[in-house]
Amino acid sequence: MDLKRGSRAEAWVRYGEELGFGPYYRDRATAGRTTPQQIGDGGNSTSDYVPATEAVTETMMAAPRKAPAQTPAAKQAHAAPIAPAIVTPNLAPSLFDASERIEGDTLPLIREFIGNCTRCKLHKTRTNIVFGTGNMKAELVFVGEGPGHDEDLKGEPFVGRAGKLLTQMIEAMSLKREDVYICNVVKCRPPENRLPERDEIATCSPFLYRQIDVIRPKVVCCLGACSAQTLLQTTQGISKFRGEWFDFRGSKLIATYHPAYLLRNPPAKSEVWKDLQKVMAVLGLQPKRK
Ligand code: URA
Repeated sequence: MDLKRGSRAEAWVRYGEELGFGPYYRDRATAGRTTPQQIGDGGNSTSDYVPATEAVTETMMAAPRKAPAQTPAAKQAHAAPIAPAIVTPNLAPSLFDASERIEGDTLPLIREFIGNCTRCKLHKTRTNIVFGTGNMKAELVFVGEGPGHDEDLKGEPFVGRAGKLLTQMIEAMSLKREDVYICNVVKCRPPENRLPERDEIATCSPFLYRQIDVIRPKVVCCLGACSAQTLLQTTQGISKFRGEWFDFRGSKLIATYHPAYLLRNPPAKSEVWKDLQKVMAVLGLQPKRK
């Protein structure tokens, strides 16, 4: 491990310990990945937000861990309604993977632990903490970036324009919003809907990991680059890996474009629909009949 990465990892571990999580973070030394340096794309859903392109310039080419190249037989199996289990490539075990889930953890406990949070500077400008909503036993969890204006006021994720589009996407999958769980990387609105900063993500993302650990969904669907890069611990642009399957703490993870991006780039909807169809195949869902 080089020194810079080593001290960064140590700082994260120390931080996790301070929060009482123990060794919660991944030792990325051998995984060829890095802590997100810049979250260069993705978007927030509020109407005044102007998302950057999802095809971000990559500052570092740290690739997320993905399922290995498939044999023809595996490809065939992948076409079946239930996709095959993803085999983790041969990476050294990480602190993150090795960490145990918090025994007896629940969503209300996590919310209680967050309290009236002042751990990062986002607390100064927020109205409400936006913890997450939906089915606590959901098979599908959507993870966005952070609350926008409407969400901040309401205390609920994805209730603005992008949220309405997300609801339509969920319904097109023949699900209802109440069937899934929806949350964000950061729980407080970044001022002016700017991207969450690295320290804010580092502070808040452990709560997201705990939420996912508690729910244990079959599929985590990252909406936009911020959540994908955070959970996969990569700085690679989302367009490079969206629509591919990854392992994430016992769940399958797929990244797709953020609904706010789709509002500005409607042609990208067809790509997102392809990604959602892959999710539907894993969950055994048929498209909604019109
Ligand atoms: N955008 C997000 O990423 N999350 C929300 O909750 C709303 C908009």
